Amino acid sequence: VIVTKTASNPFNLVHADLRHLESTISLLLQSTVPKLSQISNYYINNSGKRIRPTILLLLSKATSKSHLVSPSQRKLGEITEMIHAASLLHDDVIDNSSTRRNIPSTPTAFGNKMSILAGDYLLAQACILLASLNNTDVVKIMSTVIANLVEGEILQLSSRTTDFSIYLEKTYLKTASLISLASKAAMIVDSRSEEVIHAAEEFGKNLGIAFQLIDDMLDFSNFDLGKPSNADLKLGLATAPALFAYEEFPELGPLISRGFGEPGDVELATNLVLTSQGISKTKELARKYIDRAKIAISSFEGSPAKDGLDEICELVLNREK
Ligand code: FPP
Ligand code: MG
Ligand code: MG
Repeated sequence: VIVTKTASNPFNLVHADLRHLESTISLLLQSTVPKLSQISNYYINNSGKRIRPTILLLLSKATSKSHLVSPSQRKLGEITEMIHAASLLHDDVIDNSSTRRNIPSTPTAFGNKMSILAGDYLLAQACILLASLNNTDVVKIMSTVIANLVEGEILQLSSRTTDFSIYLEKTYLKTASLISLASKAAMIVDSRSEEVIHAAEEFGKNLGIAFQLIDDMLDFSNFDLGKPSNADLKLGLATAPALFAYEEFPELGPLISRGFGEPGDVELATNLVLTSQGISKTKELARKYIDRAKIAISSFEGSPAKDGLDEICELVLNREK
C-alpha cells in the first residue's frame, strides 16, 4: 500500500465532491438566454479556492457517523458557492475592480450592467435550490446571510471610522456570516445535535473573520493575488492594518476620516502602515480567531475530515493569495 502525503491536503479529501458541485452549479445556471449562462458561470468555472463548500463538506463528514455527506448538505454547498459568486459579481462593480483570479473581472469582460444582472440571476437560482430543501428554518438562515452581505457592504461604504469594533462587525457581515450560517445550516439539514450545530457556527464565524483579516493584510503585500492589490486605501477603506497603524501614528486619523481622498493620502498612509506593526498585529489577531475556530471543533471525534478542518485553519492563516 502506497500512502501518499497529498491525502492530507484538505481539498483532496473532497476533490470528487467539488467536481460534482461544479457540474451541478453549471447545470443550474443554464438559461434560455445563453449570455446569462455564460456570465453567471464565469467565476464558477474559473475555479477559486472553493473554500466555503470545502468547509461545509468537511464539517458534514466530520460530524457524521458514516462520514457521508447527505444530498441536502451537498445542496447547501452549492447554494453557498452561488451566493458567494453572486456577491463577487456585484463586488467587482462596486469596487471597480479590473481582475479576479488572474482573469478580467466580470465588469471588465461584460460590463457593469451585465455583471449586476448575472449576480441577481445567480442569487435567484440559489434561492430555487434553497427552496427545494423544504426547510423553512434553513431558508431563513440563508436569507439572513444575503441580508448580512448587503449590510456589511453598506456599512463599509458608509463608515469611515477608526473604531475597531465597527470594522469587526463589518467583517462578520461581509465575510464570516456566509461561512458561519451556511455551516450551521449544513448541520441542521442533517439533524445534528444542538452542540454540534453551535460548534459549526462558531467554527465558521471565527474562521471567516480570520479569512478577511488575512485578505485585508494581503492587500498591503506585493504578492500576486490574481486581483488588484493595494486597493483598499484607494477605495477609501481603513482595514485592520491601517487601524492598528493609527494606534501608533495618530496623524492617520484625519486621512481615515476623509477616506484617503486628498492627493498624497494613499502614499502617506501606505508608508505609515508598512512602517508600523499593523501587518504583524493583523496576523496575530487572525491567529487568535483561527485558534478559536479550532477550539470550537475540538470536541469532534478524530477523523481525516476533522484533521482537514484543522489544516484549512492553518492554510487560511498562512495563505499568500
Ligand atoms: C469581497 O470583499 C466581497 C464580499 C465579501 C461581499 C460583497 C457583498 C456585496 C457586494 C453585497 C451584495 C451581495 C449579494 C449576495 C449579491 P472585498 O471587496 O474586500 O474582496 P476582494 O478583494 O476579493 O474584492
Ligand atoms: Mg468589496
Ligand atoms: Mg472587492
